[in-house]
Amino acid sequence: MNVPGSTALVTGACSGIGLAIARRLAARGHGLVLVSNREEPLARAAAEIAAAHPVQVQAIAQDLAAPDAAEALVAVLDARGLEIDILVNNAGVFFFGEAVDADPARARAMLQLHVTTPSLLCTLLGARMRARRRGRILLVSSISAWRPFPGISYYASSKAYLRSFAAALRSELAVYGVGVTCLAPGATATGLYDPDVVPVARARRLGVMMDAEVVAEAEVQALLRGDALCVPGLVTRAMTTAAVLTPQPVIDWLRRRAPWLRPRS
Ligand SMILES: NC(=O)c1ccc[n+]([C@@H]2O[C@H](COP(=O)([O-])OP(=O)(O)OC[C@H]3O[C@@H](n4cnc5c(N)ncnc54)[C@H](OP(=O)(O)O)[C@@H]3O)[C@@H](O)[C@H]2O)c1
Repeated sequence: MNVPGSTALVTGACSGIGLAIARRLAARGHGLVLVSNREEPLARAAAEIAAAHPVQVQAIAQDLAAPDAAEALVAVLDARGLEIDILVNNAGVFFFGEAVDADPARARAMLQLHVTTPSLLCTLLGARMRARRRGRILLVSSISAWRPFPGISYYASSKAYLRSFAAALRSELAVYGVGVTCLAPGATATGLYDPDVVPVARARRLGVMMDAEVVAEAEVQALLRGDALCVPGLVTRAMTTAAVLTPQPVIDWLRRRAPWLRPRS
């Protein structure tokens, strides 16, 4: 899939890791279909990439947390006559808190965005890749997928679903020449986090958070090579091991003391 002239669809492409992945794919000669919710930043991202690289860049502003979002997006692709060779399922959101406090609308949107829409995009666009006997699919999970995490139950569980789905899909599609890669970044300095809760800029300066550009470069290399899994950064890889090995009582102890998750009186 290093073929320049192929077309990559990137969801969540107007910022953060998605924008960095899109830039890198364009730099390697892949045409782009950028999809995000907000029209203006998306149009800016498309214009920036089109000015920097001699590739076709199209933008589709769409709410991927809406019911039927996958079918609606594929209908737009068909109406524009676009064939997708590389599917990057990256769009995501994040919130902290106990699951029982979650706003149902917000929780539903997260599940739709992290679980239903990417799965169905894999189904609808993966079927076409299977028919063509070529293609690449990327699912953006997270290191939070490695164990249950109190405080981010909706987020981590949906990312665990993506990790599992990617592995099964990879096995199914490998025999047709279609590669599936799971990306599991650790904390990355992007707009994913509420700046009032997470001091992203300071965390980046201290090296606690990775740079989205570094994550994206590791990911695009893994995607084009057809790797099963990409966990960018040594520290992040060490953290996945620590997450798996940490006994549940330690997690429960931390949960009782975590300042951001105080038990209610
Ligand atoms: N940053 C981290 O520490 C980290 C760690 C592990 C995994 N990840 C994952 O990496 C992916 C990218 O996140 P990021 O860190 O780059 O954050 P980000 O900069 O906030 O990017 C998220 C992207 O998702 C899009 N999006 C959100 N809701 C959407 C909706 N309803 N419909 C369409 N697009 C929507 C956003 O577009 P709009 O702005 O237009 O809504 C934005 O382009 C996510 O899946 C996230 O879970 C991030």
